[in-house]
Amino acid sequence: MSTRVHHRSYPLNAWYMACWADDLASDRLLARTLLDRPVVLFREANGAPAALDDMCPHRFAPLSRGRVQDGIVQCGYHGLRFDASGACLGNASAYSSFPPGTCVQSHPVVERHRAIWIWLGDVERANPELIPLLLRMPEPGGQENIGNYLHVHGNWLLETDNIMDLTHVHYLHDGSLGNESMRTGEMTVSEKDGVIRAELWMPGTTCPFGPLEGKLCDQWNNVEWHAPSAMILDFGAVLPGEAAVQDEGGYAFHIFTPETERTTHYFFGSSGSYAEEDASLPRMIGALQNRIFLEEDNPMIEAIQERMAGRDFWEMRPAILSSDAAAIRVRRKIAKLCREEVNAAD
Ligand code: FES
Ligand SMILES: [Fe+2]
Repeated sequence: MSTRVHHRSYPLNAWYMACWADDLASDRLLARTLLDRPVVLFREANGAPAALDDMCPHRFAPLSRGRVQDGIVQCGYHGLRFDASGACLGNASAYSSFPPGTCVQSHPVVERHRAIWIWLGDVERANPELIPLLLRMPEPGGQENIGNYLHVHGNWLLETDNIMDLTHVHYLHDGSLGNESMRTGEMTVSEKDGVIRAELWMPGTTCPFGPLEGKLCDQWNNVEWHAPSAMILDFGAVLPGEAAVQDEGGYAFHIFTPETERTTHYFFGSSGSYAEEDASLPRMIGALQNRIFLEEDNPMIEAIQERMAGRDFWEMRPAILSSDAAAIRVRRKIAKLCREEVNAAD
């Protein structure tokens, strides 16, 4: 068996979710490693998000150990200050002189769909039109279920595989989100404009949760993948023969950003915004998601990664099932993007 150290599994030329928009305050630095790169995120004086490499060019202190005021980051060690472009503004000391051109690398960031998106690839190619289109993200103001986060000891593609093959719900989540009756469902996969969609239609199956719990229903559990790693689920259940109309509150988000090759930032939530008196509903959905991902999905993902012991997924020759179709398509697309980047660099 090969123990080859595998290449980078993520493309650099893509927008990744760095954090939730609400995670960034005007007076706080957020340190986060993204794509193996330590970054510090903050807001400029006008509220615009900003990101710099999290290392001072003087003595290499993490800038996140300093502070931010009016959009100016001050290193916690000897006080050098940097603006959002990364340019050094010196410090307040009487000996303040520094070599011309002293700076920190800054990175393009955009606030959209309640999240902060970062581009760590070729700056010329950072086109905000490529940001995943998450139109179902609730607008600010209502009672909502977003802002959830988990840190996972698993490669981000294992997480993507998990969401793109929702037949795991019938086994791994037996008794919580799924049950045996749902195993009769059929999956169809399609692709349009680079968005991969897997549909799982489960007629005449027992509804596992919600207002129709325990009743025989027609159920669906579909997922759409937006490059590189945002997934939107639309799911629902109706009494047999009724029109399968999607509920506006019945969308769920799973967004993965590689922290390193072995660890992942997992952002999740659901659509719908609710009146104050229904505040318990989004809180309940959030708590349910959190519990299930924490207790059922993540332990499996982490155990898989441990078993794979650093080996390459394809070199291990996985047995492919028809239910893998969507996940494999995603993997191929990602692999192609990575290959193109490697070739371009040669
Ligand atoms: S290490 Fe940042 S100012 Fe010295
Ligand atoms: Fe799951």
